[in-house]
Amino acid sequence: MNNENIKSAVKKFEELLIKQQERAERIKQDKEFVDYSKLDKLTIGVCGGDGIGPVITHEAERVLRFLLADKVDAGKIEFKEIDGLTIENRVAVNKAIPDDVLAELKKCQVILKGPTTTPRAGDPWPNIESANVAMRKELDLFANLRPVRVPEKGIDWTFFRENTEGGYAVGSDGLNVSDDLAVDFVVATSEGCERIARLAYEYARKNKKERVSIITKANVIKTTDGKFLKICQKVGEEYPEIITDDWYIDITTAKLIDEKRRRDFKVFVLPNLYGDIITDEAAEFQGGVGTAGSANIGKKYAMFEAIHGSAPRMVKEGRDKFADPCSMLRAAVMLLSHIGEQEKADLLEQALDICMFKEKKLAITGRDTGCTCTEFGDYVMETVKKLS
Ligand code: IPM
Ligand code: MG
Repeated sequence: MNNENIKSAVKKFEELLIKQQERAERIKQDKEFVDYSKLDKLTIGVCGGDGIGPVITHEAERVLRFLLADKVDAGKIEFKEIDGLTIENRVAVNKAIPDDVLAELKKCQVILKGPTTTPRAGDPWPNIESANVAMRKELDLFANLRPVRVPEKGIDWTFFRENTEGGYAVGSDGLNVSDDLAVDFVVATSEGCERIARLAYEYARKNKKERVSIITKANVIKTTDGKFLKICQKVGEEYPEIITDDWYIDITTAKLIDEKRRRDFKVFVLPNLYGDIITDEAAEFQGGVGTAGSANIGKKYAMFEAIHGSAPRMVKEGRDKFADPCSMLRAAVMLLSHIGEQEKADLLEQALDICMFKEKKLAITGRDTGCTCTEFGDYVMETVKKLS
């Protein structure tokens, strides 16, 4: 065994621990959520991303502008286009988010973001960190809220995925100690666990959901998942009207397909990676990842996005104009609700349920056998007009 390899790995590990300790201290400082009602003007940043991102994001922006026209006209809300969060630009500066883009993002309280391409080992690009993951960390968007609803199957789930820690905290900074030995790290902080737990329980209380399920693999990942479980349970004690149960992630994936059991699940709170995996599974019941939006919530910023990737193949095959905007429109529903426009959020949600599940006058197939993204956007806006 080469001692130099170990020494150099220990040095890097030390640097990593120092940074994580600083972060643990920093996140304790941000206590209050920003109050949008106190702002003179709310800025919504719009970031198209890669692949089908610009097409579907533009469509969601069009629908939002239509719904928020009164506020935009009154100067209470503005939309700000932020270009440059593309894989080409990110590769050119070798950064997950170019500095100028990050500076623009920080001028907005709320961001609507299209999917971005994430390089992986073996791709022609340098293996830079995912722009999503970087943005969640840079803006400290610690909660990833992902609702999945299939009323006719009795499914009404809301996932509270921890969004800045776990395997993602230093996901791009694992160590190749030697040619033979690679190590990644999983991180949990007390504040990180507590703030996601509190948000999940507050949501459950406010929305009269009777159960919160804590999902971990604390029987094996004993230290970090153990901490997550313990802290969530402790927060749960403050909400005696809510049933708390806890499950391991493996059996949870099975129980989601158990028709008798799955209806009992309401609110889930879970570490980052399990949340990533299980929300794709959950979205499949609703019609696939293309139908699911997600809200990334922090104390100062919030970002709304699809849960799927950028589908570069659709662009290569010239099919991007047939891309399904529903995930971004669902994200737009969450954006509206987050900024206090609950009535408009309900209206858009109702219109989407009609267009996607009930009436289905137009079908999106991802190719020319179905309607275009723009035609679907028009259909949604027509439906909103009929409802209001
Ligand atoms: C998601 C995505 C991202 C994640 C990828 C693109 C890095 O899968 O938002 O669920 O793993 O979080
Ligand atoms: Mg995912």
